[in-house]
Amino acid sequence: MGPIGRIGPLLPAMKVCAGVGWRVSWPIMKTIKTAFFDAKPYDRETFDAVKDGYGVELKYFAGHLNADTVHVAAGSEAICIFVNDAVTHAVADALCAQGVRLIALRCAGYNNVDLKAVYERLHVVRVPAYSPFAVAEHAAALMLALNRKTHKAYFRTRDGNFSIHGLMGFDLNGKTAGIVGTGKIGRVMSGILRGFGMRVLAFDPFPDAAFAQAGGCTYTDLPTLYREADVITLHCPLTPENVRMVNAGSIAQMKKGVMLINTGRGKLIDSLALIGGLKSGQVGAAGLDVYEEETDYFFEDFSAAGIDDDVLARLMTFPNVLITSHQAFFTREAMTNIAQTTLGNIRAFFDRGELPHEICYRCGEATCQRKASGKCF
Ligand SMILES: NC(=O)c1ccc[n+]([C@@H]2O[C@H](COP(=O)([O-])OP(=O)(O)OC[C@H]3O[C@@H](n4cnc5c(N)ncnc54)[C@H](O)[C@@H]3O)[C@@H](O)[C@H]2O)c1
Repeated sequence: MGPIGRIGPLLPAMKVCAGVGWRVSWPIMKTIKTAFFDAKPYDRETFDAVKDGYGVELKYFAGHLNADTVHVAAGSEAICIFVNDAVTHAVADALCAQGVRLIALRCAGYNNVDLKAVYERLHVVRVPAYSPFAVAEHAAALMLALNRKTHKAYFRTRDGNFSIHGLMGFDLNGKTAGIVGTGKIGRVMSGILRGFGMRVLAFDPFPDAAFAQAGGCTYTDLPTLYREADVITLHCPLTPENVRMVNAGSIAQMKKGVMLINTGRGKLIDSLALIGGLKSGQVGAAGLDVYEEETDYFFEDFSAAGIDDDVLARLMTFPNVLITSHQAFFTREAMTNIAQTTLGNIRAFFDRGELPHEICYRCGEATCQRKASGKCF
C-alpha cells in the first residue's frame, strides 16, 4: 500500500518538468481540520509518517473524548477516536453544535459510539480490517504462553530459578478449539489452530459455509462448543445480544479446566463469574486482551498510582491469568493500515461523499441507504 491509502486517493494531478527533474504537483484541496483524541506517541508517529497527501490537519489531544473534553473539537469538521472514546447522546449533541460532521474511528469495533444518537446527524466511519493476523497471532500468543507458562518461566529463570515444577502444559495437538465468531480474525485464528493440529469447532450466527466446506472449521451451536472445547477463543463483536455471554451459566457448561481467550471486547465476559470459575478450577486459564472496565486503565501507566478496580486487581492475582492491555492489534503493519485507511476515510467523505467504511445502526437492514447512495443516510 502506497502512502495515499486505500480509498479516496489523491494522486498527484500531474508531473511538471521543472528543468532539472520532475516535480510533483498536488491538486488543490481543502484542508480538513480533525481533532484526534486519545493520541499516544505511537499514534502521532504513525499518522505523521503517512499523512502527506491527504489534506487532513490533525490536532492531537491526549485525553479521551467524553462530555467534559468534547469542547476541544470546536473548529474541527471531523474527529478521530479510538476504542475508549465515548460518543454518547450528549457528546453527539455537542459535536453537532460545534459543526463536526464526521466521526472517524481508527479501529474496527464501534460499540463505544451510540449509533442511534448520531444517526442522520453525524456520519461514522471505521477501519473494518487492518490486520486480522495481528489480532489472531496475539490470541495464539496468549494461548501458548498460558499453556506452557512462559510468563512465569521468564521471571523464574531471570531470578536464577531453573526449576520447572508447576510449569507443565498440554499438547494442543489433538485438542479441540472453540472459536466464537468466524469473521476476518476468527478465520485466521482457525488456520493457526489447525496448524497446531487442533480440531476446530466454531459458532457464528452467520456461518461461512464455503469456509467450513474448505475445512476451515466445523460449525456447531454454543452449548456443543462449550461442552467440547478445551480452549475457547472469542472473536465476535460486542452486541446487545451477547453482552456477558461468558457468565456463570455458560462457564458451568464448559469443560472443566477450559482455557478462555478474549481479544474481542471486555464486556463479552462477566468478570466476577470468571473469577468464580478460576477459583473453583472450572476455568483452567484465561488470556484477556480486553476487560469490561478497561476504559479507566488500559493504554495508561498506573504503575505508580496503583489501581482501584478490585475486580481487575483480583484477576491479576491468578497465576493462570494473563492480561494484556488491548494490544492485540498493535503491529507495525496494522498501525500503518489504520492510519492510511482513517485518513482515506476522512478525505473520501469531504471529497466524494461516499463512504464504503461507514457504519450505522441500520447497516444490514434494507432501510440502510449505503448500497444505493454510497452513504448510510
Ligand atoms: N483486541 C484488539 O486489539 C482487537 C482488534 C480488532 C478487533 N477486535 C475485536 O474483534 C472483533 C472481531 O473482529 P473481525 O475483524 O473478525 O470482525 P468481523 O466483522 O470480520 O467478524 C465478526 C464475526 O462475528 C460474528 N458474530 C456476530 N455476533 C456474534 C455472536 N453473538 N456470536 C458469535 N459470532 C458473532 C459475525 O457474524 C462475524 O462473522 C471486533 O468486533 C472487535 O471487537 C479486537
